[in-house]
Amino acid sequence: MRSFVVGGAGFIGSHLVELLVDRGPVTVFDDLSVGRAAFLELASATGRVRLIEGDARDLDALAPHVADHDVVVHLSANPEARRGLVDTRLDLEQGTIATYNALEAARRAGVGKFVFASSGTVYGESEDACAEEDLGRLPISLYGASKLAGEAMVSAFAHCFDSCATIVRFGNVVGPRGTHGAALDFLRKLRDDPHELEVLGDGEQAKPYVHVTDCAAGILFALDHTTPPLEVFNLAPSDTTSVRQIAETCIRLSPYPDAVIRYTGGERGWRGDVARSKMRSDKLRERGFSLRHSSDEAMKRAVDELVAEVFPPRRRKGGG
Ligand SMILES: NC(=O)c1ccc[n+]([C@@H]2O[C@H](COP(=O)([O-])OP(=O)(O)OC[C@H]3O[C@@H](n4cnc5c(N)ncnc54)[C@H](O)[C@@H]3O)[C@@H](O)[C@H]2O)c1
Repeated sequence: MRSFVVGGAGFIGSHLVELLVDRGPVTVFDDLSVGRAAFLELASATGRVRLIEGDARDLDALAPHVADHDVVVHLSANPEARRGLVDTRLDLEQGTIATYNALEAARRAGVGKFVFASSGTVYGESEDACAEEDLGRLPISLYGASKLAGEAMVSAFAHCFDSCATIVRFGNVVGPRGTHGAALDFLRKLRDDPHELEVLGDGEQAKPYVHVTDCAAGILFALDHTTPPLEVFNLAPSDTTSVRQIAETCIRLSPYPDAVIRYTGGERGWRGDVARSKMRSDKLRERGFSLRHSSDEAMKRAVDELVAEVFPPRRRKGGG
């Protein structure tokens, strides 16, 4: 299987590429705005990874490289949902237009399979655990809106041009090489101020967290189990982890266990932040896929892994 991964040098992409190289050559197309060539070191050691630096917002830059692949996996996006509050075009360009470009490039090249990284944010805010068919509530962030628009376009392309599309809606993904998210934010803040950790909101926000190794394995499983023209899969554990738990875990596992937490208050971290969400991934489970980590386990493991990245040994207490 020859894979083409847009945004493949990022957090989830670099873990996915490590699995894809077992199946054949992988082309990574990434503008390295967030991702890094170094994230692909392990996969590149196989000699099966080719990295092309380019911007997915530019169809002419993207399209010529897509020929001769069997699947396009589209992962690039605005990395921080809250940035949509200050730049309202960002999710349109980085989300909706880049997704159109990836679909159109795949169509022109006659690539039969397409995978789209979507998100639980498409469900908006709901008290109930959402299954794939529940879209009663619409997104409340521009990021979520661009994911929903992307899903609609993926569906349209699959139905109009006889391709086979897999949409995977992730919960919050955590783990090594993380490029954003609450745990990484907290650890960086602790590095800057070892005494006090500022936490946005009241700490009661609670969401499902997926370990990145489960996420990468789930994407491949979903790809292998998609019936044409299109299938949608949730990929998240059924439990949730609160922001308070994350903050406390970060402090406990950091070199600064005596730091105190200061909550800014309010039920959500920022406008558009879904304060509480739950997802049901029964569909993937019924097909035979199981996540190896619950949300709490994924978060605990990820904080451990991120502590090692944010506080390399020489910066740890007593490390000299
Ligand atoms: N991390 C999560 O918690 C999470 C949750 C749900 C959905 N997702 C989705 O999964 C996908 C991957 O997320 P991630 O966490 O690995 O993010 P990431 O930012 O680490 O990876 C995205 C990659 O895309 C690249 N990129 C960004 N804009 C680009 C452009 N215009 N052209 C080419 N490359 C570009 C970046 O350099 C980066 O390497 C995204 O679509 C994201 O919205 C992530």
